[in-house]
Amino acid sequence: MSQEDANLEARLEEQETFEPPESFVEQANVTDPGIYDEFEENWPDCWERAADLLSWEEEYDTVLDDDNAPFYEWFTNGTLNASYNCIDRHVEGDRADETAIEWEGELGETRSYTYSELLEEVEEFAATLRELGVEEDDVVTLYLPMIPELPIAMLACARIGAPHAVVFAGFSADALATRMNAGESEYLVTCDGYYRRGDALDHISKANEGLEGVEHEVSDVVVVDRLGDDLEHDLADNQHDYDDLVAEQEGASVDPVSRDAEDMLFLMYTSGTTGKPKGVKHTTGGYLAYSAWTSHAVLDVKPDDTYWCAADIGWITGHSYIVYGPLALGTTTMMYEGTPDYPEKDRMWELVEKNDVDIFYTAPTAIRAFMKWGEQYPAEHDLSSLRLLGTVGEPINPRAWKWYYKHIGGENCPIVDTWWQTETGGMMITTLPGISKMKPGSAGPPLPGIDARIVDAEGNEISAGEAGYVTVNNPWPGMLRTLYNNDERFISEYWAEYSDEEADEWVYFPEDGAKIDEDGFITVLGRVDDVINVSGHRLGTMEIESAVVGVEGIAEAAVVGGDHEVKGEAVYVYAIPEDGYETGDELEERVVQGVLDSIGPIAKPEEVIFTPELPKTRSGKIMRRLLENIASGDELGNTSTLRNPEVVDEIAEQVDLD
Ligand code: WT7
Repeated sequence: MSQEDANLEARLEEQETFEPPESFVEQANVTDPGIYDEFEENWPDCWERAADLLSWEEEYDTVLDDDNAPFYEWFTNGTLNASYNCIDRHVEGDRADETAIEWEGELGETRSYTYSELLEEVEEFAATLRELGVEEDDVVTLYLPMIPELPIAMLACARIGAPHAVVFAGFSADALATRMNAGESEYLVTCDGYYRRGDALDHISKANEGLEGVEHEVSDVVVVDRLGDDLEHDLADNQHDYDDLVAEQEGASVDPVSRDAEDMLFLMYTSGTTGKPKGVKHTTGGYLAYSAWTSHAVLDVKPDDTYWCAADIGWITGHSYIVYGPLALGTTTMMYEGTPDYPEKDRMWELVEKNDVDIFYTAPTAIRAFMKWGEQYPAEHDLSSLRLLGTVGEPINPRAWKWYYKHIGGENCPIVDTWWQTETGGMMITTLPGISKMKPGSAGPPLPGIDARIVDAEGNEISAGEAGYVTVNNPWPGMLRTLYNNDERFISEYWAEYSDEEADEWVYFPEDGAKIDEDGFITVLGRVDDVINVSGHRLGTMEIESAVVGVEGIAEAAVVGGDHEVKGEAVYVYAIPEDGYETGDELEERVVQGVLDSIGPIAKPEEVIFTPELPKTRSGKIMRRLLENIASGDELGNTSTLRNPEVVDEIAEQVDLD
């Protein structure tokens, strides 16, 4: 480290707050600090400001209808179409020939779509879906990796009013089947395969295996040919080649259907406390307004930008901030197919330089990996086009924050650390980059109009410095409306904890712990339920446990998250073998395979620890906290309340902490 670097490090260490650079503030979309008061005073009408970013067919009557809380409705009786808002209006305006989607393939090929080209593709695929018999409100499952056909299919669904349910391509066959069953989805769009680190991966076999687990009849499957001759496969009778179908619809024009603001735009499955994934329902008006508004206010997106959110569209981040938000604002949104270290560890920075990326949004886990690889990789590239950086998905440690600030942002870009969830539809707690100072490790204050609080177990606001729980005490347009086909679970999961039903006072509980400081800055500490966050992906420990106990030879299991340098948390499996089964590599491999088969590689256990018993309290509850401490290499504290304290040392000895 040079002396200059050492000085800077020292300064960064002691500096708790960072001011946004003047050059950024001068051009920011939102710069008036009065916006916080303005939103509070005019709530809920302040949300008209978000709705105004959209083109409505029929104006809405009411901003918020809370008659049937917590089944809130937003922008009631307004009608609009999301595909029209994300494409047609930009074509009708002056952006027809501007780039809408810039796609970078892993092997170096690129595809670029102007807004008018995107319109053509979307209309042709919308016509294809109609031809197959897809009707308004039919759920179409999209099991696709990061190829342009994914956003095209999403927008085609939106155009004809068919909600999409995207299933992350890395999920297993079983996970696909569970989700198609839950959504009673009769249509699937998938592909033959895709590239990962230069290898052609077979995807269609996984899709086919998943289809075998679907309990109802699937009428049609459309298969995108991503791999050409690299993968030969047969199509079943109800399976069609994407290009063949689309070719039949060449030049088709499909009018965007008029959707009620409250009509479902999509379903997104996410993990919760129980084994069954939750189908989060998002709507056309509120969700689109909210993703557009936060893209404008927080990500500072402008039409002339090249904006890159390096998430996967298979998660909510990609829905809100690769597809809907940025396209609603008419900007150029970038999509990258591959991994960040292929062919070299400078791939991301090469792409930033090549495309003159203005805004870059990624997850702390990626930043920690970049940091580990070393600053020489970004240093090889000119990153001066960058104006704003963002992070999402998990808490960011101050060291990673400062590394990002210095080595990617060149100390010249504000960082927005955005806290939100699949359920919230868009960002909830973060600084506004043109207004607030930044504190590494702290997401910031709630956004204007968002009544997020940090409370104790009784719901009373806590003092600065203490740890408590996040609640949201007023609704917002991007919120989930319910869990698909399960209003009861919607209430019990999110509203039961802190609401006063009698008084008709509804408080949303996101199940996160947090602290707040004197400035009202919130530091999110992590989940307080049985959900773990691995590389920014949310995984239910119960889901993994049920996969493990499904393995022949396993009697009981507990799954917890342990600290991990890059992933944030990693999956640790503690398993009790059945009598007569030998613990060893063979059983371990079958446990790992069981998890891969039921969920996918994102849930791959870091370690499988066999034990004759799990630590239990006298009342028989598994002491998860203790298992987490063991996995993280933390102090174990008092174990005397256990029924079987001796088992703890036995387990701890086996865990390989490196
Ligand atoms: C959970 C939601 C938000 C889209 C991606 C994940 C954690 C998210 C932050 C952040 C600390 C964060 C929370 C939350 N989380 N962003 N900036 N700081 N924690 O969506 O899969 O629904 O997960 O991710 O624990 O509850 P998700």
